[in-house]
Amino acid sequence: MVLENPRVSSLEVGGGRGGRDLHKFDLVVKNPSVLVLLRSVCTTPAASAPATPAQADPAPGITSSKAPNLKNFAIYRWDPDRTEKPQLKTYTVNTAECGPMVLDALIKIKNEIDSSLSFRRSCREGICGSCAMNIEGSNGLACLTKINTDPKSETKITPLPHMYVIKDLVVDMTQFYSQYKSIEPWLKTKKPAPGGKEHLQTKSERKKLDGMYECILCACCTTSCPSYWWNPEKYLGPAALLQAHRWIADSRDDYKTERLESLDDPFKLYRCHTIMNCARSCPKGLNPGLQIAKLKQLQVQR
Ligand code: SF4
Ligand code: SF4
Ligand code: FES
Repeated sequence: MVLENPRVSSLEVGGGRGGRDLHKFDLVVKNPSVLVLLRSVCTTPAASAPATPAQADPAPGITSSKAPNLKNFAIYRWDPDRTEKPQLKTYTVNTAECGPMVLDALIKIKNEIDSSLSFRRSCREGICGSCAMNIEGSNGLACLTKINTDPKSETKITPLPHMYVIKDLVVDMTQFYSQYKSIEPWLKTKKPAPGGKEHLQTKSERKKLDGMYECILCACCTTSCPSYWWNPEKYLGPAALLQAHRWIADSRDDYKTERLESLDDPFKLYRCHTIMNCARSCPKGLNPGLQIAKLKQLQVQR
């Protein structure tokens, strides 16, 4: 090994994937022209001092020895290109060294322990909806869900329920998006905007969209709905129905009657049995069940 900078006093070399077998080589300069490498394993030179829990060798994947707060995550793993069946794989993370959210722990696992772990994320602040998954039995956004720091309890993370899995925590959203597309989620008007510019709204008309426009299409509600589990091809599910009502309630839209007609179907709309799992699981605090009830009311009034 050639080291060109004699001021270097130590050199880290990675062993297994993600630094699992990380070793540190201490470099001693005995003579300007002679370099001797002494090997130690993930330690400081104070090898003779008794190891306290904080100084003991860290668990696999832990790359620092500073006051660790170790926490186990059992994560659903499945790779379509391998023969192994789906399994829960446990990873130990030093939560003292990552942010407070479940997404922070997942990123740490991917960066430092197992780069093959797959999950979606983008904004990391509850805006894009891509990090939806099931965490400790409830659907939610990994970036908005705090890590349960109780070291005795293992945090189980699985994909959104009743969805086809593409790999690990990544599910196939094709059907969810095509159901969203089926409600025609855009403004439809019969006459041009006044002055050829914008379709205006009063403040009170705009206020009617509160509780709906905030939806980020994360699918937490739809995939927690028992009615959707039983009839995923025919029932539109809470997210698409909330969005349907969002456009029906929009004062600028001229196709309310047609929109309501297209929803008047025993499966598309009426499979909702007001179980309200949707409202419990929405990370944005929305109530799709309430919007579905309003749609049913409008169907009666029509
Ligand atoms: S209220 Fe309707 S949409 Fe919401 S979970 Fe229950 S059945 Fe599904
Ligand atoms: S209503 Fe809530 S849970 Fe459902 S898709 Fe929209 S943001 Fe997600
Ligand atoms: S990363 Fe965008 S909502 Fe979580």
